[in-house]
Amino acid sequence: MRILALESSCDESAVAVFDGRMGLLAHELYSQVDLHSLYGGVVPELASRDHVKRLLPLLEQALRKADCVRTDIDGIAYTAGPGLVGALLTGAALGRSLAYAWGVPAVGVHHLEGHLLAPLLDPDPPPLPHVALLVSGGHTLLAEVRAFGAYRILGETRDDAAGEAFDKSAKLLGLGYPGGPELAALAAGGRPGVLEFPRPMLDRPGLEFSFSGLKTAVRLAVEAAPLDAQRRADIAQGVQTAIVETLVAKALRALEATDLDALVVAGGVGANRALRTTLTAAVAARGGRVWYPRVEFCTDNAAMIAVVGHQRLAAGFREPLIVTARSDWPLDSLEPARA
Ligand code: KG4
Ligand code: ZN
Repeated sequence: MRILALESSCDESAVAVFDGRMGLLAHELYSQVDLHSLYGGVVPELASRDHVKRLLPLLEQALRKADCVRTDIDGIAYTAGPGLVGALLTGAALGRSLAYAWGVPAVGVHHLEGHLLAPLLDPDPPPLPHVALLVSGGHTLLAEVRAFGAYRILGETRDDAAGEAFDKSAKLLGLGYPGGPELAALAAGGRPGVLEFPRPMLDRPGLEFSFSGLKTAVRLAVEAAPLDAQRRADIAQGVQTAIVETLVAKALRALEATDLDALVVAGGVGANRALRTTLTAAVAARGGRVWYPRVEFCTDNAAMIAVVGHQRLAAGFREPLIVTARSDWPLDSLEPARA
């Protein structure tokens, strides 16, 4: 089965072509980051309008790169949620309509299931079951991945996501959007231990996160003394360390609670070097191993939607002839998908 996949849940328009036997044939992406950087965050209406412009040219490009024509496509997958509902609707409307016009089945894919299963695109995929740490701009959660479609949420953030904590702290330091990579670069020149920030919820049992207090602590640090280059770097260092240590400690707790030793890190924050180094060492120290999908599959992309869509279409999942987008969609409400 060869499928076309569309992703448009936030500020990335992406299209991929995936073949059940040959694997990923093409994946094209357009990031709207420059459009939204003017405003310091994603503007939902601008995102939807830009997806409308970008998706069809990306689709043509993806088909060309995959060296196939539309009659080679056996099914269409699109991100149906969670995300910005207007942005989701552009991909869902295009995907559902094309499937109808081409006479092939369509399936709506859960964006987070895409992130969770992106590591399957790697030549050395993680074993099942494993624990997944999903850390993006919109989500921070730990889940037990038992089988395709069978997920148990172990803990989630009560407020801001880890990526949001990076982005908001970066904004307070006068950095651009998205702030995560810029804050990480600035932190490299900071002195470890000079400024300590709270490790939210680390002192309590459980696997919940809370990052919203961090931005207040950063604001106080920014206002407390003149913000020269060294102080900015020290603040960045302190914030990054607080976020990383919190994520690492909870990830270790999740491995312990589930008695598993395989951890998969997904989502944009998974690109963070400090997180990777600390987590890899901490998990190895207890005899486990961490899997990181390639950075291009860590951030939003359509290849991960294609992997899930392929499995679900092969297992017989079908979308009725209506366009559905869900801004809110609990991950553990998904049905397992066995081909
Ligand atoms: O998964 P993603 O591309 O989009 C969704 O939110 O779905 O994640 C984007 C988030 C942003 O908050 C961005 O600042 C953060 O990932 N990020 C990073 C790094 N690269 C991206 N955060 C810290 N360090 C990085 N190197
Ligand atoms: Zn995402």
